[in-house]
Amino acid sequence: MTSSVIKPADIREVAVIGLGLMGSGIVELVGRSGRRVVAIEIDRDFLDQGMARLSASLDKAVSKGKLADTARAEILARIRPTDDVAAGVADADLVIEAIPERMELKKALFAQLDQACRPDAILATNTSSLSITEIAGGTRYPARVAGLHFFNPAPVMKLVEVISTVLTSADTSESLALLAHDLGKTPVRIGDRAGFVVNALLLPYLNHAVHLLETGQASRDDIDKAATVGLGLPMGPLTLLDLIGLDTSLAVLETLQAEFGGTRYLPAPLLRKLCDARLFGRKSGRGFYDYQRQSTSAADAEDHDLAHRALPASVALLRDSGGLLDELAGAITEAGIDVQPQPSPKTDLVIVTADPRHRVLDAAMAAGHPADVVGIHLFETLTGKQKLAELVLPDVTASDTAAKAAALAARLGLNAVTVRDRPGFLAAALAYAQFNDAVRMFQDGYASPADIDVAMMLGCGYPRGPFQMLDDAGPAYVVSVLEAMHAATGDPAFTPVPLLDEYATAGTRFRGLPMTGNTRTQF
Ligand code: 3HC
Repeated sequence: MTSSVIKPADIREVAVIGLGLMGSGIVELVGRSGRRVVAIEIDRDFLDQGMARLSASLDKAVSKGKLADTARAEILARIRPTDDVAAGVADADLVIEAIPERMELKKALFAQLDQACRPDAILATNTSSLSITEIAGGTRYPARVAGLHFFNPAPVMKLVEVISTVLTSADTSESLALLAHDLGKTPVRIGDRAGFVVNALLLPYLNHAVHLLETGQASRDDIDKAATVGLGLPMGPLTLLDLIGLDTSLAVLETLQAEFGGTRYLPAPLLRKLCDARLFGRKSGRGFYDYQRQSTSAADAEDHDLAHRALPASVALLRDSGGLLDELAGAITEAGIDVQPQPSPKTDLVIVTADPRHRVLDAAMAAGHPADVVGIHLFETLTGKQKLAELVLPDVTASDTAAKAAALAARLGLNAVTVRDRPGFLAAALAYAQFNDAVRMFQDGYASPADIDVAMMLGCGYPRGPFQMLDDAGPAYVVSVLEAMHAATGDPAFTPVPLLDEYATAGTRFRGLPMTGNTRTQF
């Protein structure tokens, strides 16, 4: 049998349909690779906006000295914008569909492509989560239909998911993987399942962040800070939701919810409300953040404010599980504040070391001064240069105590967030629930830990993949935090999946060498 793998050099003309955020990014990427691109959008306004976004992106590259003026002109000359689908796809070697996430729209478009494209053209969809099998099923040549899933911003993120249905030919999948390489991307080849690898792990994590915001676990800025400072991610989850688009995110969650059920994918009511209010994120000017106002960020203003708030006069430091309090005691004394090992009548702040597996409240009650108690939990970051300090507040903590703790953290130069006293606190709650999802995906036989790690690193800029982070935290420790989260919330989504429990029991790592028992670090 002769192979009909199409070499990247033979993909000379690409039609991209849909000039939203992803579509215009894909047009830029393909245009930069030297190919002709037909940029198709049936709505003239969207077409103009998409082309303007693309031009602005190229202009930015020129102004940064990353692209020559002549190269910019050549790229634009290779791009032909049109609102005529049939004429636009007629000569294309490859069509990439990037229209809104609605199955009926995709099916109608693919029926039209069936008639208008060359029979040897590859038809790819950039759908975020819809069934590619269903999209392909209605076409005449389903062997040449596959998923080609890019990540926002498409010109920057290095991952492409190449998704085969049971009908996709091996040659089609191979052709798309070769093309992805040629575009400077790393392809991960996977089967057709809702959310594929990245969105099935990313979206429930983003949804969890919205849920934490909505339930008052922490503020918007602190949730984002926990992810960037604590987990080392390039963006906080609420900033990332604004980048992806809240409407797109909601659509992906609804698909995941329909496919897998349970509570993990159930869209947070706040996400739905923001979508109802048409606050879609950056593209509409406002989402969790307001992009129209050019003022100092709330976080900067708050830091400034904290630095001028009243510091405690005398601090008692209680319980120490890892030398943390000695380190803190030195820094607090250096700041000219009295430090005691036990609360005394002049103590106006009691700090206890906090563990995400336990409530701080119990230590607060034992200390006999519950209103004066704040827990502190330190995350080492990946670089070891910064630490995230989670200031944990039981509901009985007085508001002026919380303010003094925050002012003290600011004076000590700690990267602090304030969080309610619920197991998992903030950074571990967000991360460990995602690790559990990642193990479930592996348990289901959908993707390997190595592929999942690569996908999250290249698709979302993770400095290390979830399995690497899980190994470093230690499966047994992660299981115990998840169990505490489950016990506190009753939410079955936090129940450790059986395979995670097995690895924890066996003391085995998901990647690399077996555990030695005492090597656990928190990131
Ligand atoms: N288009 C083109 N280039 C862009 C860009 C855009 N929209 N945004 C940023 N860039 C370029 C910049 O020009 C810069 O290029 P240079 O290094 O050559 O100068 C480079 O990217 C880095 O940008 P910045 O320095 O301005 O900003 P950061 O260092 O903060 O990086 C980021 C920005 C790359 C977006 C980074 O924050 C990141 O990796 N964030 C995570 C994004 C992510 O998770 N994406 C996946 C979302 S899921 C998805 O898309 C799937 C969908 O189905 C929902």
